[in-house]
Amino acid sequence: GLVNTRELFKKAMEGKYAIPAYNFNNMEQLQAIIQACVETRSPVILQVSKGAREYANPTLLRHMARGAVEYARELGYEIPIVLHLDHGDSYELCKSCVDMGFSSVMIDGSHLPYEENVELTRKVVEYAHKYDVTVEGELGVLAGIEEHVSSEKTIYTDPNQVEDFVKRTGVDSLAIAIGTSHGAVKFKPEQCTRLPDGRLVPPPLRFDILEEIERRLPGFPIVLHGSSSVPPQYVEMINKYGGKLKDAVGIPEDQLRKAARSAVCKINIDSDGRLAMTAMIRKVLHEQPEVFDPRKYLGPARAELKELYKHKIINVLGSEGKA
Ligand code: G3H
Ligand code: 13P
Ligand code: NA
Ligand code: ZN
Repeated sequence: GLVNTRELFKKAMEGKYAIPAYNFNNMEQLQAIIQACVETRSPVILQVSKGAREYANPTLLRHMARGAVEYARELGYEIPIVLHLDHGDSYELCKSCVDMGFSSVMIDGSHLPYEENVELTRKVVEYAHKYDVTVEGELGVLAGIEEHVSSEKTIYTDPNQVEDFVKRTGVDSLAIAIGTSHGAVKFKPEQCTRLPDGRLVPPPLRFDILEEIERRLPGFPIVLHGSSSVPPQYVEMINKYGGKLKDAVGIPEDQLRKAARSAVCKINIDSDGRLAMTAMIRKVLHEQPEVFDPRKYLGPARAELKELYKHKIINVLGSEGKA
């Protein structure tokens, strides 16, 4: 069946790697995630956002995720699978996911005043833990859009708050803001250095803040949101075949590799999957304009997605063979 994050994070902490947290909204994304994780023997966190639930229908999504456990077995290897609510924005939403069989939830009170964040998070933990569902909280605000709240710049996590927050809420993991950001345009060009070939190099993540948090919370699992790398080959493919993505820039893989070796036990990736899928669909439709069977473009998109997810596991997160 589905598992919560407790054991997975303990092992990830000891083994100095991170568990992939991949978002899904539809069947092809789910298949690609499970295929990639079975082939690499990696545990996985399947993330469902509020928007994903609305898009795909909560009942269907839940059954798909449960089906994924059986699907993995059929593919030849039973990997640990977590079904996690991404960016829960209310007690009611978190409760509904717990009641529906999610094994983990995030309550994102990061945009609230500190005491309100503590109160809301504590309440979710109190309910979730009764059912052995693990809870992720968040301190600090990522730049860009986060659960419909948009922030001009990062409000870095204050290391002085983390001990108090974890103690008073009882959360199982903590998402922090150290300079990552949601979406495909993570930084404004003026925040970046432009290389001679035109590519943008984003400002480095604040590993000093991460290290201070690790000192305050020894052995406690940390989560990084907004961790897509925005591979230039996908941006180029999208633009080559009729798309219009400007100034797309992500988190360099070497920074994520470094984060994965630290107390960061969960790394959230959604945008890269969206880019890979869109790039391949555009390419197929451009090269084969006679195609109108969705399987003819969703199939190649799914295959491309799987390769992307495997690449992350093997070359960035280090979770290969940990299932
Ligand atoms: O952090 C947000 C995730 O990428 C999910 O995005 O709310 O558009 O489904 P979404
Ligand atoms: P990206 O937009 O960088 O993929 O981040 C996804 C995320 O944080 C989901 O919660
Ligand atoms: Na880690
Ligand atoms: Zn996020």
